Amino acid sequence: MLRWSFRSAGEAQTLDLGIQLGRLLKQSALILLQGELGAGKSVLARGIARGLGVDPRVPITSPTYTLMNHYPARLDLYHFDLYRLRDPDELLEIGFDDFAFGAGATLVEWPERLENDATPGLWVRIDNLKDDLRELTFLPRGEAAEELLLHLRRALSS
Ligand SMILES: Nc1ncnc2c1ncn2[C@@H]1O[C@H](COP(=O)(O)OP(=O)(O)O)[C@@H](O)[C@H]1O
Ligand SMILES: [Mg+2]
Repeated sequence: MLRWSFRSAGEAQTLDLGIQLGRLLKQSALILLQGELGAGKSVLARGIARGLGVDPRVPITSPTYTLMNHYPARLDLYHFDLYRLRDPDELLEIGFDDFAFGAGATLVEWPERLENDATPGLWVRIDNLKDDLRELTFLPRGEAAEELLLHLRRALSS
């Protein structure tokens, strides 16, 4: 398993990383975003949405109260924020599995609420080092996520 870390010096850099990642997403991509409140999960999610081609006039905001936002783009993007999830049954009600394992691309903030930390996908943990400095640690689970991470690293180094 190839874990990879990236240091971001500010919001713009995290956004840019997200854009690069969003451009590379294929059908059924699942990205799980971990980190404390204010770490930058939604900033990365916004970049991913832009890279995937969500209309730049559409605001990308954390779906904290709605649990999920859907954005049509090159692939349908489903953005979950499970912070306020109380009961895993709510996931069934909103059809989480249909989206997360469907043909679109799915982002999940607070995947800890899923109670399955081995869900296949690209896991990203964001740590706040100090001020605007963040460390993003990418941990791919499964072949598709490993390939995605390799493509991301290649895109960043070219
Ligand atoms: N390097 C960085 N990457 C991402 N966000 C940063 C960075 N430095 C400062 N920030 C700020 O941290 C906050 C992150 O907010 P947000 O993405 O909503 O957090 P989360 O979704 O993890 O709760 C924003 O106010 C952003 O401007
Ligand atoms: Mg958020």
